[in-house]
Order: sequence, then C-alpha cells, then structure tokens
Amino acid sequence: MQNDEGQQSSQSIHHIVYCSQAVQHMDKEALDKIITTAKHHNPRFGITGLLVFGSGIFFQWLEGPKDTVTSLFKIISADPRHTDVVLLTKEDEFRERLFPNWDMELVAAEDISAVLEDAMHEASDPKHKKTLSKMLQELHNSALGK
Ligand SMILES: Cc1cc2nc3c(=O)[nH]c(=O)nc-3n(C[C@H](O)[C@H](O)[C@H](O)COP(=O)(O)O)c2cc1C
Repeated sequence: MQNDEGQQSSQSIHHIVYCSQAVQHMDKEALDKIITTAKHHNPRFGITGLLVFGSGIFFQWLEGPKDTVTSLFKIISADPRHTDVVLLTKEDEFRERLFPNWDMELVAAEDISAVLEDAMHEASDPKHKKTLSKMLQELHNSALGK
C-alpha cells in the first residue's frame, strides 16, 4: 500500500459504521430533521455517508477525516432519539470515498433484518452480537418487522 501524496485517490479515509434502535416512532418529518442537520454540518467537517432507516433501526456509514468522524460519532451516540448504538466497523483505509457526493443520504431499507443478520454473524465482540440479536428479536416481534 502506498500513500501517493497529492493524489486524491489514495487519501487516508476513516469510516465508522454503526447501527442503533430508534427510541420513538420516526415519521418522515423526524427523519428529515436528522438529515437536514446532517447536511448542514457534514460538509464543514468533510464527512459524507449514508443513513439507512427501516423497521425502527438506523444503520449509518460515516466517512471522512478521522478526528471529525470520531467526534461526530460521539455526538450522534449521545443523541436521545436512538439507543443501543452498536459500533460495527471502524477503519482507516487508503482509498477513495464510497459516497463522495452524499453529505448524508437517507436510504429506506426494505429488509433491515438481512443487514442486521450479516452484521451479527460478522461481529467479534460478544456484547455486539447480543445487542444485534436483541434488535433482531424485537424486529421479529413487532408486527413482522413492518
Ligand atoms: C441516527 C442519527 C444520525 C445522525 N447523523 C448525523 C450526521 O450525520 N451529522 C450530524 O451533524 N448530525 C447527525 N445527527 C444529529 C446529531 O446527533 C446532533 O443532534 C446534531 O449534530 C446536533 O446539531 P445542532 O447542534 O446543530 O442541533 C444524527 C442523529 C441521529 C439520531
């Protein structure tokens, strides 16, 4: 791996992926509010990414400089609109951004349980596995996850 300074394609990009559970019912207005705040702040911090929401579960990909991604993740983790925040991935890589044009894009998840099941199988921390399994259980219990 080489760091070709001056070449955009080989910058060190930090990314964090987490999932969490919404505390209350999130309607379009509530989701728009989060996205509007994100689109306001993220460009100033060089952060891009996407936010997936489905069946009461958030799944967010944040990428950008390590210091700003780390501080934003701390702020987001303390947000009372969600709970059971599980950090799934935290990595530095020399590569291009995956979502260079998305300050924060909201994506609807038709089947968030598949995403959670994958994450659960890949999680190495038993605490994370347990939280993910709890989320899946709640998803299945809540009117077939719709
Ligand atoms: C699931 C979720 C995702 C969020 N994503 C972002 C984000 O990408 N960027 C951001 O600035 N705030 C995000 N927020 C909001 C922050 O937690 C926090 O409320 C906001 O940064 C505070 O901004 P303010 O001081 O301008 O009100 C998110 C909140 C939640 C619940």
